Amino acid sequence: MRPPLNLMAPDVRANPYPLYAQLRRGPVCQVEPGGMWAVSRYDDVVAVLKDTRRFSSVGLGRGFLPPWLARNPVASSLVMKDPPEHTRLRGLVSKAFSGPALQRLEAQVRTLAEELAEATVQQREVDFTAAFALPLPVRVLNLLFGLDPERWPDMRRWAEDLLSIPASQPTPERMEDIRRSIQEMEECFQVLIATRRARPGEDLVSELVRAESMTEDELMSFLFSLLPAGFETTAHLLSNTLLVLAQHPDELERVREDPRRIPLLIEEVLRYEPPAQSSLRLVTEDTDLGGVRIPRGALVAVLLGAALRDEQRFTEADRFHPGREAQAHLPFGHGIHFCLGAMLARMEARLGLEALFRRIRGVSLTRQEVQWSQSYIARGPLSLPLRWEPRVET
Ligand code: HEM
Repeated sequence: MRPPLNLMAPDVRANPYPLYAQLRRGPVCQVEPGGMWAVSRYDDVVAVLKDTRRFSSVGLGRGFLPPWLARNPVASSLVMKDPPEHTRLRGLVSKAFSGPALQRLEAQVRTLAEELAEATVQQREVDFTAAFALPLPVRVLNLLFGLDPERWPDMRRWAEDLLSIPASQPTPERMEDIRRSIQEMEECFQVLIATRRARPGEDLVSELVRAESMTEDELMSFLFSLLPAGFETTAHLLSNTLLVLAQHPDELERVREDPRRIPLLIEEVLRYEPPAQSSLRLVTEDTDLGGVRIPRGALVAVLLGAALRDEQRFTEADRFHPGREAQAHLPFGHGIHFCLGAMLARMEARLGLEALFRRIRGVSLTRQEVQWSQSYIARGPLSLPLRWEPRVET
């Protein structure tokens, strides 16, 4: 018998794209870990994400609520819900992520990006992930919540603790740390909600408390969910971009000469090296997909990373080519759960890269081997040691 295909095998984590190509060539099939059904072709991925009746998100929260955790508001958040509850909640929170809300944030995000870029480029050799890619999104979340700027290290610890829950078998000490983080978050957000109810401002939480039909629990779950949703993915987008540019110096040259190309660059990084590699769904009834019957109750891994390299959809899919014709909206999902923070993430990436490109001429890797995150959900380097070639002022 052939060994099962395993999304967590070390060579697959180092480079998942050959396995994805193999999966796209065959019928929908089961993979490790856990015998999930892997959906890999672009059209199949879109079909699954559109069909919320047969491919449900309810029940996915269980991963965030292991037996050792009595309470975790993330487990009942928006992304774990189906219509009609999802529709109602999404309607209540969407305005807080709209264009006007983001425009109010833009100047502050630019200032942050400039500060971080200055400090990062001053170090000729730097771990880009630690110095820039992680701090920027976590500090933006801090801004979005309207918290004291000094609290961003707490925000980061909370986000990391929440993200570690589904994957880990923690030691008793780690369990205690995570329980404490959840308690601290609840206390912090309760104060924040009460303050904004008393004196609403122009920030995210004020916008949300104006939606009076949202219960306290729903509000808390939503705020909790923004930390894992908005932190790691955006950090991976920034690190993946610098990694790809270090490997494609001609593209860096092109975008430095014409910074208006930055949005095209970001879109192609999102397709070529997507931070969100998969979404999960639960099958509600026996269902045929790509000629294969998937049984009720099965877990489906919707492989966005595989769909984004589908040669049926993209010409020369394995080539990094900013400005390519076929548009890929899938990096942020598809359908009703389409990422609420997509505009914010793109804005952060654009402002972050503008600030960096103004200060550098070139970039290279100081170590060719990259250590990737050990997750089939999110992909990015754990650290990214870079050497800058600073810009010489003329
Ligand atoms: C490059 C960065 C990001 C990527 C690649 C990304 C990717 C995704 C994907 C693929 C989904 C769909 C999940 C599913 O269908 O199961 C999603 C949903 C979501 N994302 Fe993002 N995301 C990013 C940044 C952000 C940011 C910055 C925020 C907010 C601060 C955010 C908030 C959300 C929320 C709230 C949802 C759930 C939407 C719903 O269920 O209706 N994301 N994201």
